[in-house]
Amino acid sequence: MSASQTEKRADGSVYINWAKTAQSAARYNLADSGMRNYKLADLPVQLSDIELTGASFYGYPPLQQALARKAGVPAECVVAANGTSMANHLAMAALVQPGDEVLIEQPAYEALLATASYLGARVRRFARPSENYFRLDAGEVERALTPRTKLVVVTNLHNPSNSLADEATLREIGEIAKRAGASVLVDEVYLDSAFDAAPRSSFRLGDNFVTTSSLTKAYGLSGLRCGWVVAEPGLAQKMWRLTDLFGVLQPHAAELLSVIALDHLDEIAASSRALLAENRALFNEFLAAREDIDAPPSAHGTISFPRLVAGDPERLCALLAEKYETSLVPGKFFEEPQHFRVGLALEPEDFREGLARLGAALDELTATS
Ligand SMILES: Cc1ncc(COP(=O)(O)O)c(C=O)c1O
Repeated sequence: MSASQTEKRADGSVYINWAKTAQSAARYNLADSGMRNYKLADLPVQLSDIELTGASFYGYPPLQQALARKAGVPAECVVAANGTSMANHLAMAALVQPGDEVLIEQPAYEALLATASYLGARVRRFARPSENYFRLDAGEVERALTPRTKLVVVTNLHNPSNSLADEATLREIGEIAKRAGASVLVDEVYLDSAFDAAPRSSFRLGDNFVTTSSLTKAYGLSGLRCGWVVAEPGLAQKMWRLTDLFGVLQPHAAELLSVIALDHLDEIAASSRALLAENRALFNEFLAAREDIDAPPSAHGTISFPRLVAGDPERLCALLAEKYETSLVPGKFFEEPQHFRVGLALEPEDFREGLARLGAALDELTATS
């Protein structure tokens, strides 16, 4: 678990490659972790609102202001990025030198591991054990941290388990990291999908916190690629200078659309919340009725990570894909091969049908094993 992996990887992300190629083929896509796509037609946009090129260099000022308002921080703390993906890359690239030790939760979103390895970090792990439903535990971080640790990386909500960490635990992790001179990166891309249950962004929990997020998961706006880092101003500057190497500018049309989306975020959130409430009720009924899968009832967020009590989740996923036009994410992509990840944020009629197909495949798996 805690042995560090030193090999520099430059082969991308196995999981992202799978997600871009295999999963999207399914009619009932329970593999997707974000809200169903929000439509351009539902945004109050006129063609005359959009322009292709504008005064956007180290950020487009109106977007900087809108993101700063959303995050509740000064605009100097915000670095706009191409999704949380580039936000994570910028944050790690600014904080980690080749050979530095980075301590990452296990199980983890694989792109975080791949990014740290790509940057030449020595990747070390701390456990979020399945027996505790992957709860974040500061003691596990303390046990795995070494004097060489430069960065601790967590997701909140946790991908894949959806577990919500409380402020006290995150604050404690910040203090543990600080004693070693390390920063804490909290990927909060799922946090807004907890709505009222969401704690404040971790950025305020200590001066060694950096957070990342985007409009992708809770709002269904992945296509805008509107992501951001929140960091103290000196570090944010360092990241802006790295953007000179990574794409230089954001597409201006997307920046203009992002400002409009941020102006209407409450309405977009209300539509996400209503859809999720409906699907969550269906999912919790489904979970309660089945003895062959185990997960806590869903209380927030867009995903769940059940354990298949007996049998092979890879077989389940293959059966679903081949016979039921339905996709899940096999737990092997998250280092937990007895689990699978289910997305809760499809249109309700598709979600209902996807769940029915999941039930039929589970029954078939039991009957044939
Ligand atoms: C933990 C985590 N971070 C980042 C991302 C990427 O998000 P974005 O679309 O904002 O780049 C994902 C997407 O699955 C994710 O699960």
